[in-house]
Amino acid sequence: MSIVNFSTRQRRSFFLPSSPPGAVAAVEWRPCELRFLDQTRLPAEVAFVAARSYREVADAIRRLAVRGAPLIGIAAAYALALAAHDPGADLRAAADELIATRPTAVNLRWAVERCLRVAGEPRVRAEARAGIVEREAVAIHEEQIAADRRMGELGAALIPAGATVLTHCNTGALATGGIGTALGVIKTAHRQGKGIDVLVDETRPLLQGARLTAWELGREGIPYRVIVDAAAAGLIARGDVQAVVVGADRIAANGDVANKVGTYGLALAAAAHGVPFYVVAPDSTVDLDTADGAAIPIERRDADEVLAFGGAHTAVAGTGALNPAFDLTPARYVTAIVTERAVLRPPFVAALSSSARQAVLR
Ligand code: MRU
Repeated sequence: MSIVNFSTRQRRSFFLPSSPPGAVAAVEWRPCELRFLDQTRLPAEVAFVAARSYREVADAIRRLAVRGAPLIGIAAAYALALAAHDPGADLRAAADELIATRPTAVNLRWAVERCLRVAGEPRVRAEARAGIVEREAVAIHEEQIAADRRMGELGAALIPAGATVLTHCNTGALATGGIGTALGVIKTAHRQGKGIDVLVDETRPLLQGARLTAWELGREGIPYRVIVDAAAAGLIARGDVQAVVVGADRIAANGDVANKVGTYGLALAAAAHGVPFYVVAPDSTVDLDTADGAAIPIERRDADEVLAFGGAHTAVAGTGALNPAFDLTPARYVTAIVTERAVLRPPFVAALSSSARQAVLR
């Protein structure tokens, strides 16, 4: 893996799907190489890294250099294309390794299985396999960019003019490769001149809100302030927030939502004080094979992420920590789910399955 600094001109000629104007390209594909922005270094440093094997991409996903549910799906699809270029590679083994990197975001499994399916079709000759997987990965990437645009339009219609919107984690270009999901709604409402401002949960322990969302909003000139996660409920109770807008890592068939730890608390506070709680996620985040939230695997990460920051210990040596990366918000606290297809309202069992049926008929 090598760090590369390449000019905008070079970047444009290598990048196949066209990234939305102004949005950072979190991943860029060029034949036999996936270049990604190392998000662990933001906001201090904007460094692109070139991965030339699927294992390097798997490692980047594991350590959150590439993160966000849709983006890890896209990166894993490109990683499978890298594996397919190796004539000796076992694609199923590579796929399993990629899927195991992060268990909660279903987009990862969805994208990898989709690429594996096209690679395994009987008509595919061995020498054509890599090109076919590569084209499928590019299609997944392009579809996400288009889905983000549509979710942005549908979701922005829900945001009142002059609203203060609270969001959690990072759901922008850094998480999807497009304009983002929840952050795409915020960007679209801003571009429509709604005069909104944004409260950004810092998102302990890895600060995706303070480090990444603030960076993205600043680049786009959208007014925002960062709050500590613990301030959110009090601000919602005071009437300082008109809408909570978040993304998702997996939505079960009944509408239960797995998202970055801290989301459930926001949903409870929003419900208690009559503030709408919107979840914005593409179809690829909906998992109709998982009946409800209880069946969604919740990733547990290293205790060090909680007990240290920037290499310095924040708790006394020997302290233990529990570090679930996600939590579950029951469907009853969700006002609406915005996908690229529609704004879905409860009861979500019916809304999600009929939306999936339309997707198949398309
Ligand atoms: O651990 P992360 O940073 O990958 O978690 C990301 C989130 O929880 C996002 O809210 C979710 O993936 C939706 S991204 C559009």
